[in-house]
Amino acid sequence: MKRLFTPIITALLLLATGCSNAPTMSQEEADAYRRADKLMKKMTLREKLGQLEQFITRKGVVTGPEGVKRDIESAIRNGEVGSFLSVFNREDSHRLQKIAIEESRLGIPLIIGCDIIHGCRIIFPENLAMSCSWNIEAIEHSARIAAEESAASGIHWTFSPMCDISTDPRWSRVSEGAGEDPYLGAKIAAAMVRGYQGDDLSAPNTIAACVKHFAAYGAAQAGRDYHTVDMSELMFRDRYLPPYIAALEAGAVTVMSSFNDFMGVPASGNRWLLHTLLREELGFTGFVVSDWNAVHEMIIHGVAADGKDAAELAMKAHLNMDMVGGDYIAYGEELVKEGRISEKLIDNLCREVLAVKYRLGLFEDPYRYGSQNQNEAYYRPENMEFARKVAGESMVLLKNDGVLPLAKDTKIALIGPFADAPKDQLGAWRGKGEPERSITFRQALEERFGKQNVLYTKACECGKGVDRVVEGGIREAVKLAKQADVVLLSIGLSGWHSGESRSRAELTVPAPQQELLDALKKTGKKIVVLLSTGRAMDIRNEVEKADAVLLTWHAGTMAGPAVADIVSGDTNPSGHLTISFPYSVGQVPVHYNAKTTGRPAKDQYKASGYSSSYVDIQNAPLFPFGYGLSYTEFEYSDLQVLTPEVKLGGTVKVSVKVKNVGKRAGDDVAQLYIRDVVAETTRPVRELKSFERLTLAAGEERVVEFEVPTSDLAYCHSDMSFKADAGDFIVWAGADSNATLQGEFKIVE
Ligand code: GLC
Repeated sequence: MKRLFTPIITALLLLATGCSNAPTMSQEEADAYRRADKLMKKMTLREKLGQLEQFITRKGVVTGPEGVKRDIESAIRNGEVGSFLSVFNREDSHRLQKIAIEESRLGIPLIIGCDIIHGCRIIFPENLAMSCSWNIEAIEHSARIAAEESAASGIHWTFSPMCDISTDPRWSRVSEGAGEDPYLGAKIAAAMVRGYQGDDLSAPNTIAACVKHFAAYGAAQAGRDYHTVDMSELMFRDRYLPPYIAALEAGAVTVMSSFNDFMGVPASGNRWLLHTLLREELGFTGFVVSDWNAVHEMIIHGVAADGKDAAELAMKAHLNMDMVGGDYIAYGEELVKEGRISEKLIDNLCREVLAVKYRLGLFEDPYRYGSQNQNEAYYRPENMEFARKVAGESMVLLKNDGVLPLAKDTKIALIGPFADAPKDQLGAWRGKGEPERSITFRQALEERFGKQNVLYTKACECGKGVDRVVEGGIREAVKLAKQADVVLLSIGLSGWHSGESRSRAELTVPAPQQELLDALKKTGKKIVVLLSTGRAMDIRNEVEKADAVLLTWHAGTMAGPAVADIVSGDTNPSGHLTISFPYSVGQVPVHYNAKTTGRPAKDQYKASGYSSSYVDIQNAPLFPFGYGLSYTEFEYSDLQVLTPEVKLGGTVKVSVKVKNVGKRAGDDVAQLYIRDVVAETTRPVRELKSFERLTLAAGEERVVEFEVPTSDLAYCHSDMSFKADAGDFIVWAGADSNATLQGEFKIVE
């Protein structure tokens, strides 16, 4: 934690909050706590409990089972609620705030939280897509833009970044994260916190971030959302914890507890998670909000007999704010009267919430957010242009036999359910993104190639409760294909299929769309598949039958221009996968950083006796982590280990030459992987430890120098210590996780 240390204040806080080790705290934060303590001296127990409640308004976007219906205005006047979620405009935000400020006894401001996950009005590519840009600065900037549009809407706080590592694309929320790798996930999580919170949390264009879903929500068994998460603490610390830590170290002031049980206890009642680990070990000093109704759902989990039990369990776990459940305000006074909860504990929970409100500047000016003209903040041209650029960098070229890029006078048959789908291209958690502002593939391609050169038909429908060929759709598609030079086939999954509670056991493209592909294949025309999806899929069939496959993801408001830029060749695709695309769902979880086992398969593509392999399919995924093609070619050569021996605490330096041997400029992502050959616990066969996105002109060669501090080689030991050891390491560099250029180095004591 890089913060100014204020021992006196921090020590006093420790006494107050019962933390054992000293979380370092900035002066600004310590001031906020002091002001909170002063205010609390005036508050009744019920008013303190009110600060621990978050409700939804009737106009709110409901993102879970309907919560308890309440008279929210009288709750505000009585000081029985301190926060609202899913209030997306300044009028509603200020209306609620006015009641709190002018009509409640102490005039404590509300904090308004929303799911600003990949944009507020301008919607950027879903987070998994954006992670494939490997462009950390761009991801931070997207969060900055989202924060500006949100703050202008009277929003104070976003429930983002989602830091959940996942290796299971059956889990639909994989779309919201940064894929399977902890190193990249950590870089991205920290970048998003910086983008949201900026350097001054009280500024009118920065908002509070929220590290979610704490913890390990992405490891749900069988890829089924909300399912049990049960793993060793070692695996948790090694693979799932790093992105949460990175977001906290970047200064995130709130955390959200996850729905799942974790090592047998639901996260919202899990004191080891929310207090011992989060506060005592990691030094977190902000507040924790539950996920939607997750406190009350501990009854269903079977660890609470009723709402009162659930409230007691969550409060004792150090969960500050109950999202829509209502058990804190319902039972908090009784729990204190019965001696089951101390008022001091409630003081601690309340203090941490108030401190964030002070840090946001809400007590100085409750209307600060939304003070500027919100319409001026929305859809700024420079931000729309940025959204187009980052959408293009997120797309991944998976196959191309040379059919792409298309000549400008190409006659295109544009076919499929997502070619003109302004809502689907926004994906899940689209904030207040307006589909009418989307520019679709069809609109952008007509603009780029001429309306007369784009023959369009939808042919299939796919979305919530619908998955079918439209009447005569295939016949029409075949007819247009025969009139065209090339088919652009826009298939995959709808925006509805991404996000919460949309787990799928099958990862193949829906059958009606496969039927469409087969019919078009028979025309003999070249086919380019434009794959819309929020998750990795089993696309063996499409890769076999198409001449090119461009993974467009759900790329947001400017998805259309980004696709037109790429298929026309104006932009050279540069995305690289951050999640493995399985050869079959039967492999899942399949990820590059798996462990070797004692009997590794000698060949990833065919079974060998007595080895950890399948007899019916290959071990290797269809496309590995890090993979992505370009319209040019990059050659990697001459890997040099510049520091063959490094002392613990030093920095490993490795260089590699990258040359653009093609005929046009392009971006590539040079990646560095290591293997700890002999460690105290089993280690992955490869681990990403550095990368660099670089632009090379045709013929240009560059030497990329990677620097890896030995602290980045730390791993979890069997005693749960997280540290690097002396020992031998292998290092690879290249354009994906199958990089072959290799070298060795030693870490010495
Ligand atoms: C949802 C999601 C969470 C979201 C919250 C508020 O159930 O799990 O990610 O932030 O509720 O909408």
